[in-house]
Amino acid sequence: MGKKPQSIYICQGCGYQAPKWMGRCPDCGQWNSLVETVMHPSKGHRENISCAEPQAINQIIIHPEIRIQTGIAEFDRILGGGVVSGSLVLIGGEPGIGKSTLVLQVLNQLAERRLKALYITGEESLQQIKMRASRLQISSDHLYVLTATCIEDCFRKIEELKPDIMAVDSIQTMYTEDLSSTPGTVGQIREVSAKLMAFGKTSQTPIFLIGHVTKEGAIAGPKVLEHLVDTVLYFEGDSNHIYRILRSVKNRYGSTNEIGVFEMRDKGLEEVGNPSRLFLQERPEGASGSVVIPCLEGTRPLLLEVQALVGASSFGVPRRTCIGIDPHRVSLLVAILGKRLGLELGDQDIFVNVTGGLRLEEPASDLGIVSALLSSFLNRPVDMDMVIFGEVGLAGEVRGVSQPELRIKEAARLGFTKCIVSKNSLAKSPSAFDMEILEVGSVQELYENLFMGSS
Ligand code: TYD
Ligand code: MG
Repeated sequence: MGKKPQSIYICQGCGYQAPKWMGRCPDCGQWNSLVETVMHPSKGHRENISCAEPQAINQIIIHPEIRIQTGIAEFDRILGGGVVSGSLVLIGGEPGIGKSTLVLQVLNQLAERRLKALYITGEESLQQIKMRASRLQISSDHLYVLTATCIEDCFRKIEELKPDIMAVDSIQTMYTEDLSSTPGTVGQIREVSAKLMAFGKTSQTPIFLIGHVTKEGAIAGPKVLEHLVDTVLYFEGDSNHIYRILRSVKNRYGSTNEIGVFEMRDKGLEEVGNPSRLFLQERPEGASGSVVIPCLEGTRPLLLEVQALVGASSFGVPRRTCIGIDPHRVSLLVAILGKRLGLELGDQDIFVNVTGGLRLEEPASDLGIVSALLSSFLNRPVDMDMVIFGEVGLAGEVRGVSQPELRIKEAARLGFTKCIVSKNSLAKSPSAFDMEILEVGSVQELYENLFMGSS
């Protein structure tokens, strides 16, 4: 009692805290990003959490986590096999990508299983939610909606309702009375999330937190939460495509980089059980420059088509445009082709595109990209039934990649019959696979095998 409220200044970019205002954040260098936040001294009722005793690691008993299946298989899989009780899951993404839709669908699924689900929103009115719900054909008796922005109010209602699972949409609209700054500032976001976290852990209620991420990647909001929450899922995709990819970038209860693929339909998000087929279904027949690469997204193999277009440049400076792939990697591969094969692509315009709006991050896609570049440059199509993968080194050597068997199996499942891989990367002999397998040790060998034989 009697203590003066204390002001601190928090950088909205990185969360740096300073006792006085500064024009520029000394940590991240952003200008004018420090916002005053008044910390009200707590009124002396800090819960008496008794400090735990240190325990010998051998004596800690593992309680198997309780998981709740949502019935949306793609979503359960990303989480590592269902929602863990008491876990805090952050779902981030650009506005309009489908976060509210997904969460409402998930809550409805659980409500249908007679779990009491609560959807707290500070973004939309009850009318708007109801309209969305009817569009999604959601009508469970156990799904409750609360419009509120003050977290203390929410907790009062939560105590009355005692939900089994809840969602907060969005974290940027919520505030706590403890801080005087406006909702959406780093201080508020952190504090509200910490309160939700504490509540979730003590009551064993799983909570979904929705966080907006802006186009420029200014993820001040959700980014500062990543270390706090148990699981971070980001929605990827753009409004030009109907696919939405939900990717786990952190998961205390499962493997990361798992992806789930959804389609945005007029009745909400539908899961795509076989994404490779979806991404390949519009593949052009007999076109040069098109190659299918078996990638690995988390634990899931995924076949993606990469397309290259190489042509003489009509400008002084040739253009390099890459969509879904790092242009520096493409430049590097072009340089390797120049040096090792004597193919000068330096004066050519080069365009590379990964279809379906996905990104190729793995070095395992190098060999496929090289093949696409060569195929377009030579105007010789690569066999439609062939997949290609392997990492390419600076000397033009082809290196092994992780889990080749898994990739080959996925390709075989989708009807591909030929595969080019790096030498010595397979544990089993090539004849053990349901495929014609060709092993190459260098880009020269790839070139000879793909384009030097009779076509
Ligand atoms: P929404 O879940 O509101 O996005 P977020 O919460 O991430 O901002 O989804 C918004 C978009 O999804 C909107 O442009 C309309 C589209 N949509 C559909 O195509 N079908 C549907 O059934 C619903 C509910 C939304
Ligand atoms: Mg929304």
